[in-house]
Amino acid sequence: MKHIRIVFYVLFFFSPLCCLANPDMPIVAKHGMVVSEQKLASQVGVDILRAGGNAIDAAVAVGYALAVVNPCCGNLGGGGFMTIHLAKGDNIFLNFREKAPLKASKTMYLDAHGKVRSKQSTTGYLSVAVPGTVMGLETARQRYGTLSRQQLMAPAIRLAQQGYLVTTYDAQWFSDYAKDFRKQPSVAAIFLKKGQPYRAGERLIQRDLAHTLQEISDKGTAAFYDGPIALAIIKASQAQGGLLSLADFTHYTVQESKPIQCQYHGYTLISSAPPSSGGVTLCEMLNILDNIHLNRDNYDSLQTTRTIIEVMRYAFIDRNRRLGDPDFVNNPLSTLLSPAYAKKISERIKQAERAQQQSLPSLVHEKKQTTHYSIVDGKGNAVAVTYTLNGFFGARVIASPTGFFLNNEMDDFAAKAGSANKFGLVQYDANTIAPGKRPLSSMTPTIIMKDGRVFMVVGSPGGPRIITAVLLTILNVIDGGMNIQQAVNKPRFHYQAKPDVISAEPLAFTPESIKKLTGMGYHIKQKAASTSVESILIDPATGLFYGANDNRRPDGAALGY
Ligand code: GLY
Repeated sequence: MKHIRIVFYVLFFFSPLCCLANPDMPIVAKHGMVVSEQKLASQVGVDILRAGGNAIDAAVAVGYALAVVNPCCGNLGGGGFMTIHLAKGDNIFLNFREKAPLKASKTMYLDAHGKVRSKQSTTGYLSVAVPGTVMGLETARQRYGTLSRQQLMAPAIRLAQQGYLVTTYDAQWFSDYAKDFRKQPSVAAIFLKKGQPYRAGERLIQRDLAHTLQEISDKGTAAFYDGPIALAIIKASQAQGGLLSLADFTHYTVQESKPIQCQYHGYTLISSAPPSSGGVTLCEMLNILDNIHLNRDNYDSLQTTRTIIEVMRYAFIDRNRRLGDPDFVNNPLSTLLSPAYAKKISERIKQAERAQQQSLPSLVHEKKQTTHYSIVDGKGNAVAVTYTLNGFFGARVIASPTGFFLNNEMDDFAAKAGSANKFGLVQYDANTIAPGKRPLSSMTPTIIMKDGRVFMVVGSPGGPRIITAVLLTILNVIDGGMNIQQAVNKPRFHYQAKPDVISAEPLAFTPESIKKLTGMGYHIKQKAASTSVESILIDPATGLFYGANDNRRPDGAALGY
């Protein structure tokens, strides 16, 4: 039966009917697969695989390409995480998260009365943390790639020099942020055309960015961290009230560690370690659910939904109170990930019949940002990368003549223990600011193994919603029995305990479920998506790769060969 289904998929996708496809059908390929939020970047990755590069090579090339063709979120001026499974069996976590400047301090965003000064942690140079992307991508290439930096960066340089056609999605955000772009001449010179935002179909050429990429390609990380690029950023930062100094760049480091690992129903999850909360929170939720067993025949039932919401509640309370940069705080991982702890919480959830009552602050306006991509090659390597500027276009500043946006990652710290950041996340002492500290993240680049072989690669943008989007996608496959495209497309909901509101995409719940959940004390707000899961599943029976670009992100593509 399974074989008949696979033959059908293969025939379907190679037939002219392919492109009228049911949107719930994944793309199938045999030798390699790249799924990203921008089809031009996915193509760059596939070209690298075809040229003999491995998944890590492709991940480096896609990272640079997205910095050109996904300017809101792809980046040189931000940071992120790479989770790698090597064909020989090793699992690796690369942490290239940004660091707070050495001149940063715990109270830097507070006024004389101890109140958080609005916007200083989200816009302008004071919100910029030391970027990690360039060192992260180069570290991955040097340690695990096979091709030269010049080969991997050439496609991005070409896209910057020759330009690419602005998509409807880009155009929408360029238009939304045009007011910010106008405030910075260095941004306006690149992202406005005669003072107006670029429209869909117009060609965006980024000459300064091409030059910066060429410098990195020629001279490596020194060009960025101890050369003209760092100096340009420092000069602009000092002129506009920022804290960045050369020591921030020369001291910047990428860390390699073991990923967070857990088991769920016989699958092994490999995910992001602190300073991301993603892997820990995901594993805590799955450990609890492992005690509960969701019923496939009743997967959309009120009981299953309520269980998942409660699991999210417990895990997010731990996330917000207890996690931070492991170089600065002691993360209680052995407690949070222990089977006994999961069992205790699962018992409480089974017994509770109503939602816990909490105060109800309004849901902050949450934006889509960050970007995730997933890659597998035909050799057995898999890579999941999530990297970010934090907000759309980060701090909305570009240090001339670098041509790239700088992050506003400082907002991922708790500016004041107990106060909400732009994601509405209320965090505590473990994540307060310190010089050289990395802010807690929610990015969750995840690889799932079954019987020692890669089964799934998954991740998403969306701040704290990343973690719940990844959770739901995994449950949709493992417990819900969906194919990877259905699992990615299914409407999602998100709950992070505070604010005490379940944010649900239209159709995530039936009207009847909404009524019943409300009656049980849950607060539900319908909200459009801010996540975009880019995922790959490998059929254990055939070894075929199934790629799913999220239908919420039409610019993206799953491309294989
Ligand atoms: N800036 C979003 C995150 O790191 O989770």
